Amino acid sequence: MDRNEILYWLRETNEQRLEELWRRADNVRRRAVGDQVHLRGLIEISNVCARSCLYCGLRAPNAKIERYRLTDREILDCAAHAVQLGYGTVVMQAGEDYGVETDRLARLIRQIKSDTPLAVTLSLGERPDQDLVAWRQAGADRYLLRFETSNPKLYKIIHPDLNNRPSDRIAILRRLDQLGYEVGSGVMVGIPGQSYDDLADDIAMFRELRLHMIGVGPWLPHPDTPLAQMASQLRLPPDRQVPNDEITTYKAVALARLACPWANIPSTTALATVNQANGRELGLVRGANVVMPNLTPLRYRPLYEIYPAKACLQESPDDFHLRLRSRIHDIGRTVGAGRGDSKRQTNASSARQAETGG
Ligand code: 5AD
Repeated sequence: MDRNEILYWLRETNEQRLEELWRRADNVRRRAVGDQVHLRGLIEISNVCARSCLYCGLRAPNAKIERYRLTDREILDCAAHAVQLGYGTVVMQAGEDYGVETDRLARLIRQIKSDTPLAVTLSLGERPDQDLVAWRQAGADRYLLRFETSNPKLYKIIHPDLNNRPSDRIAILRRLDQLGYEVGSGVMVGIPGQSYDDLADDIAMFRELRLHMIGVGPWLPHPDTPLAQMASQLRLPPDRQVPNDEITTYKAVALARLACPWANIPSTTALATVNQANGRELGLVRGANVVMPNLTPLRYRPLYEIYPAKACLQESPDDFHLRLRSRIHDIGRTVGAGRGDSKRQTNASSARQAETGG
């Protein structure tokens, strides 16, 4: 899959010709990661955020949302719920919240790892190196941090530095890999100012970073963010601007699969939001192999408003699970058993194997 081919597919609009892309992505998905759909229980542990990303509703300057932080008990109850539903992983996600203290989280990770068979994924922003080290030592298995766009100029516009420390998510991703985490990243599709060339570079970057996990979703304008207001100024001419629509997101999912056959790729909530009826399934038959059901207590969910009208705000974990199971079976797939680790080894485990001659 060379760059020209990526660009060709990104610009293709003919639905019949696109069938070939969907078919290829689905075939590669089946051969590389099989028919299991792995479920990751999402726990949105805090909506507090120190940053001011221009796209995100949780940005610090947004005074319109009420902020919350889950207690230890609430987090552990969510983890127990994940076990009860048969999930192999919990994902603890938050804004970049320094009130989620290093030691407290390390304690929680240790407790989940000793009480349950769950894999633990973290998605807590650009925390300092010592935090990433401490949490890995506590037993965290995976870390998610989207680089959002590989275009440095656009990234700088939409993602201001914090305290004059330059934000280098690519460097953090390489570091996470070194620490032995399974590493996940991804981008938003259709950011105002994102060109087709940029998105092709993003997909090439997924491959260069040898990501274990790739998450992509459409940029959805949040009215209380600057990016929603600036969109018309930033938007490129239509022949260059990537649309933030459903079909373009499927293309990005399918191309991510072709670029990184071994990766775990979720069919994201943002996709389920742009197509409530069957966005989730269409992602799964066009390259994705993971779903991240939300286990956050219902009363907090409306407060985790990254973008408006997020799907599944009011559905209980048990109801969602039953519906999801049957939808997975309806498309001829099975619910994944076990942790659903990446087929790509972490650096740490390949180093260990080299040492032992394995
Ligand atoms: N629309 C779509 N996705 C968004 N994210 C943040 N804000 C938005 C938005 N307005 C995504 C970013 C972030 C992830 C947690 O959510 O890619 O990394």
